Amino acid sequence: MHAVGIVAAAGSGLRLGSDRPKALVALAGRPLVRWAVDGLLAGGVAEVIVAVPAGERAAFAAALPAAVRLVDGGATRTASVRAGLAAAGERADAVLVHDAARPLTPPDVIARVLAALAAGVPAVVPVLPVVDTTVVVDVDGVITDAVPRAPLRRVQTPQGFDRQTLVAAYDALPAGAELTDDAAVVRAAGVPVATVAGDERAGKITVAHDLALAELQVQR
Ligand code: CTP
Ligand code: MG
Repeated sequence: MHAVGIVAAAGSGLRLGSDRPKALVALAGRPLVRWAVDGLLAGGVAEVIVAVPAGERAAFAAALPAAVRLVDGGATRTASVRAGLAAAGERADAVLVHDAARPLTPPDVIARVLAALAAGVPAVVPVLPVVDTTVVVDVDGVITDAVPRAPLRRVQTPQGFDRQTLVAAYDALPAGAELTDDAAVVRAAGVPVATVAGDERAGKITVAHDLALAELQVQR
C-alpha cells in the first residue's frame, strides 16, 4: 500500500494569537508542521504534501525536509485539503489527512489508521471516548437534556481514506461547502467511516494553554 500524507497547515492560528502561521510556531524548538510531518513518516506514510498559507512557501520549505511537497492552501480547511488532494498522484492508493495542529500524534495512531486501510475499509478515523457528563442546553444555558455518552466519540486526525473514495467524495461536494473534517466529506457521499483508537497525546493545539501542555508532554 502506498500512502500519501496531506497535512492541512494553511490556517493562521487566530485563537493561538501568534504573529506567524500556527503551523510555524515552535514546540520544543521545532515548528508544529515539522512534528506533524515527521510523525506521519515515522508511522509509515511514504510521502507528504503540505498545504501552506499563501505567500509562506519559503518559510515552510525552510522548516521541512526537501522531499515534502508544498501546495497553496485555501481560505478554509476544506479548500486546503482539496488542494493537497489534487496534488496526490494516482500512484497513491491511500491518503492520510492530518492537521499540523496535532503535532504530537504518536506513530502508533498512524499505524492503526494504515492497518485499517490495508484491511480494506474505505475510510477510518482515530477516536477517543467522552469522559465528561455531556448535556444539551437551551439559549439561556439551562440544561434541557443529558446525552448518553457511551456511544459518543471525539474525532482526531490523521483520517485515512482509500484515495479514489476521497477524491470522488470531494468531487461530489458543492464548491463552497465547508466541513470541519474529511470523514464528514465521505459520509456526505454515503461512505461508511470506521474508527480506531486515538490517543490523548494527539490533542489539537488551539489556544496558548494547549501549546503549554504540549511543551510539558515533550519534556516527559
Ligand atoms: N487549516 C488549513 N487551511 C485553512 C484553515 C485551517 O489548512 N484555511 C488547517 C490549520 O493549519 C490546522 C487545521 O486546519 O492545522 C485545523 O485548524 P485550526 O486548528 O482551526 O487552525 P487555524 O485555522 O490555523 O486556527 P484558528 O482557527 O484559531 O485561526
Ligand atoms: Mg481554524
